Amino acid sequence: MARRKKIYEGKAKILYEGPEPGTIVQYFKDDATAFNAEKRATIEGKGVLNNRLSEFFMKGLGQIGVPTHFIKRLNMREQLVRQVEIIPLEVIVRNFAAGSLSTRLGLAEGTALPRPIVEFCLKDDKLGDPFVSEEHIMAFGWAAQQDLDDMVALALRVNDFMSGVMMAVGIKLVDFKIEIGRVWDNDYQRLIVADEISPDSCRLWDMETGQKLDKDVFRRDLGNLTDAYTEVARRLGVLPSNVTHAAKKPTLIN
Ligand SMILES: Nc1ncnc2c1ncn2[C@@H]1O[C@H](COP(=O)(O)OP(=O)(O)O)[C@@H](O)[C@H]1O
Ligand SMILES: [Mg+2]
Repeated sequence: MARRKKIYEGKAKILYEGPEPGTIVQYFKDDATAFNAEKRATIEGKGVLNNRLSEFFMKGLGQIGVPTHFIKRLNMREQLVRQVEIIPLEVIVRNFAAGSLSTRLGLAEGTALPRPIVEFCLKDDKLGDPFVSEEHIMAFGWAAQQDLDDMVALALRVNDFMSGVMMAVGIKLVDFKIEIGRVWDNDYQRLIVADEISPDSCRLWDMETGQKLDKDVFRRDLGNLTDAYTEVARRLGVLPSNVTHAAKKPTLIN
């Protein structure tokens, strides 16, 4: 097979040139990083699970009319997506206080917020993805006012969808982060959801026990990350049949 051209290797994924102009292949690695890559590990099976889960969420969003970059899954670790011009902002939606919001405002983790809150962080690893205001975004030209309005609307639609899907399987969507990109259809520009939606980019708590089923398991050393992601995939019915990391139980034959 001809070697594909690598476009970019990030912390969790590799991007390759796609088969057609305007497409790219996203390869999901098993690497996990936290605290701006100060903490790193390879977690067997994570890439396979995130590839499946991101496919599941992006497809579902497409079905309710939220535009995403997803085209199709190619194999266990790769999906074909539409190439976008990534807006250099992480768009965060919060339903309950956790993480940096709890630290910043002194709110106990899990405090219900009066309404979903949308925040922006500048995508810049060297600076540790700092929080930025809409004023900063417009003054520095990272996005225009119209883009900002569209991004907030997109993020809130993703939040409604993701909250509902998760609630149906007994999981609370505490917060999540998405990346948004520009695509051009002739002279017309649109914003679509890009990158990934997975337990790497969400906070997911079991509704009954409060057990964490997301990357905080890795950040805070709370157990096996693959087990947590497998549980999310299992509840959503998207567990790939040939993931073999889980020890097989002996079966009784009589
Ligand atoms: N559809 C897309 N088109 C172009 N770039 C994308 C698309 N989806 C995601 N990306 C970019 O690809 C990279 C994904 O790799 P990742 O490992 O998450 O990188 P990072 O370490 O920068 O977070 C990110 O920089 C993300 O912004
Ligand atoms: Mg990333």
